[in-house]
Parts: sequence; structure tokens; C-alpha cells
Amino acid sequence: MAAKKITRRQAITAASAGAIGTMVNWTMPAFSAGAPQEKLAINGGARVHDAPWPQWPVWDQSAEKNITDMLRTGKWWRGNGEYVVDFEQRYAELMGVKRCLATASGTTALIVSLKALGVDAGDEVLVSPYTFIASYNVIFMNKALPVFVDTDPETFLMDPSKIEARITDRTTAILPVHIYGLPVDMDSVNAAAQKHNLKVVEDACQAWLGQYKGKKVGTLGDAGCFSFQNSKNLPAGEGGAIISNNEALMDRCHSIHNCGRSIGAVSRTSAYPIAGANFRMQQFQALILMSQMNRIFRDADIRMANAMLLDAKLKEIPGIVPYKLAPGAERSAYHFYPFRFISKEFDGVARDKFIKALNAEGVPCSSGYGPQNKDGLIEDMLNSRGYKRLFSEARLKQWREENVLPGNDKLCTEAVTFSQNILLGSINDMGDIVKAIAKIYENRKSLAG
Ligand SMILES: Cc1ncc(COP(=O)(O)O)c(C=O)c1O
Repeated sequence: MAAKKITRRQAITAASAGAIGTMVNWTMPAFSAGAPQEKLAINGGARVHDAPWPQWPVWDQSAEKNITDMLRTGKWWRGNGEYVVDFEQRYAELMGVKRCLATASGTTALIVSLKALGVDAGDEVLVSPYTFIASYNVIFMNKALPVFVDTDPETFLMDPSKIEARITDRTTAILPVHIYGLPVDMDSVNAAAQKHNLKVVEDACQAWLGQYKGKKVGTLGDAGCFSFQNSKNLPAGEGGAIISNNEALMDRCHSIHNCGRSIGAVSRTSAYPIAGANFRMQQFQALILMSQMNRIFRDADIRMANAMLLDAKLKEIPGIVPYKLAPGAERSAYHFYPFRFISKEFDGVARDKFIKALNAEGVPCSSGYGPQNKDGLIEDMLNSRGYKRLFSEARLKQWREENVLPGNDKLCTEAVTFSQNILLGSINDMGDIVKAIAKIYENRKSLAG
């Protein structure tokens, strides 16, 4: 498939998906009814893409030297080294907020934020169901009840129009998830929160540099939480952060994440104003993060330019429906590139078979999240001694009856995703993705049944 020659810079600076779509002229098949020319790789034909994809994570030699130098100091924890604090300052600047607290992980950032905002045993927290398990586990860890708000399958995100119906007199917070880096319509979430006096914690664990109405995702609620786990666009093996402009809240977060100590206190007795635990980030994590921050803008631009190419070209293939940005969303972080696979347009080919066929063509992809609201651990929690004490039988019965999420169920059967490192490929790599999917479409009859 021949690509018109354009430079990466041209692609990045092009204003819209439409503009990019016309600059890159991969020949799209006519999707004819005639016999397909090429045999699918899954059926023994040649694969479309036969080269490695970009590896992740990546690092440079200066990072290796910094780690070795720090190792030799023996100052490995935040209590006697400066790197965690340096990272917090740099991340707060990057996000445009007053404060950042580095944590051991995204999960611990979420646990601490909810606790610091006052979420308590017996409360209810509204949460997105299309997400990683941590988004609702952290609600259980605070002894509260996760209440799932249905997903808009077009945006992959919490449907704000469904929020109010799920609020009860026990609801204290909303936890929208910017899944895959796609910004949630936060004005609508915040409006519902203000009306009912609820706190908002953004799960931005996949959304570094995502943008909504001119602001960074994670700065739009009471607190925003990030993950720096190994696969993430800003990786450190493990790690997390809470950001906010609320100084008192951030002081509370600091105490909770540091065994309950007030900021600056080192005493081991009687100076603990609040119950807490040890959720501190290590110096090694902070050093890795600071070196990774040197590439974050460049990588984000490449992912975005490639995503725009895919947006423009994939939507031309029948049955392939790329994500839609929510109102107000300006930029995804593209931790994954998601689209929906509409089986009936492929003559009934099952999504899993499509995924296998695409993998066989040399394009790694996966099926996204399952219906997490039906996760077995949830029933275990609801049936536990503690939850039976905290919530009435009538409330738990109602919870089960209302835990019906058609939008989310639909998405869970249709979603297909490419991980962020795939989006770091070349323009021609993106062309191979498009070509491979178009090839599968042309050969769909050979996969059906
Ligand atoms: C949406 C979401 N929330 C929370 C987390 C938890 O982050 P961590 O793995 O750093 O604890 C993750 C991590 O994958 C995530 O993707």
C-alpha cells in the first residue's frame, strides 16, 4: 500500500483528522462484492505487517547514570532525598496545578484521595464501569459502595445523563474514569456533583496530558489521580500521583499517605493527626519519572498524529467505528486507541475472530474491558459480614436490580483497542493497520461461521 510522502511534523501540525486524512493517501479497497485478491494470514496468506512494533518502556543512558548515582547515596526513600519532591514540583507545573503528591501507585493515589475527601464506611460512590478493576476496588478499600453509572458506547465513558438517577442520600462522591486517556465531559459531571453536594475524584490513571476545554485532565474535579505503572505513557515500574489546587486537601492527602503524620513531622509517637498508611513513592521511581518526562510531549504528539490518521481512515471501513470525543474534550492521552467492531457489518464475524485475524496480520490488538460491574468480587463484598452491617438488605437488593448497564454491556462486546506503543509507530505502520483491517473486511466471508 503506497503512502504519499509526508513528514511526521506535517502530520503533527495538521489541524484536523480530516486534513490529515486527505494528506495521506493510502489506497482504500473499493469494498467490492468480487472475490478478494489476498488470502488472510490466519488462513495461510502473507501477513500485512511483518516488522516489530515500538517497544515499551524506553529509556536513555542518562537515566541509567542517575539511578546508579542515587543508589550510591543510600538515600532511597522520600524522607531523606530530594527527588520525589522535585518530581512533585515538575508534575504540578506540567499539569498547571498548585500541588502534586507522589504516591506508590495509581491505586494508592485513589484510595488516599477518597479518604481525604471524607468518603467513609457506608457511603456510596458513583463510578464508571468501563475501567480497570482498581477504579472500584478503591471504593471498597474505603468501605463504601461502588454504584456504576452506565457507559455511552460511543465515547467509552461515563454517560453524565445517567448520573442523577443513581444518586441516593448515601452518595458522597463521583469517580469518573478518563479511560484510554479520553476526557469525560467534566462540566456535566461537576454540575451534577455541585447540585447534590458531592466530591469529584478524577481517575486520570490513563490520561496524562489529556485536555478538556483548555485544561489538563485531572485538574477538573476536587482531585485527579494518575498511574505511572510500567505500561503507562509516563512509566516508572510503579507509581502514582494526586493533583489538586486545594491546599488543605493536599495536606490531608500527604498525611494519609505518610502514616498519618502531619507534613514535616518525623515523630513516631503522638503527632499523628489522622489515620494513614505508608503509600509513599520511592526516590528511584521519581528519578525514572523525571527522565521519562523529557519525552512525554514528543510521544504524545506522535500518538495523537497517528490516532488522527487512524480516525480519518478507519471510519471509511464498514463496521469499524472509532471512539467519539465527549463534548468539551479536546485531546485524548491515547493510552489506547479504541474503536468498535460491528459484527453484523462483517457478515456476523465474531469480534474475537476479527481480533485473531488482525493479530495474525501482524497488528497487535485486544478486546478492552469486560463488564466489570458483574465482577465476582463485587458479590463477595456485598455478601461480606462488613457490607451486610453497613448496608440494609433492601439497599443491596435495589443495588442488584439497578446494576443493569446496557450501554456498557454493548461496548464490552464491541470494543477493540491498540495499545499506546503501537501509536508510536511510523505513518506507514498506521497504513498497515488500515490495510490489514480493510483486508479482513474484504475477506470476511472466509471468517464467518
Ligand atoms: C483506569 C485505571 N485506574 C486505576 C489504575 C491503578 O493504577 P496502578 O496500577 O498504578 O495502581 C489503573 C492502572 O492500570 C487504571 O488503568
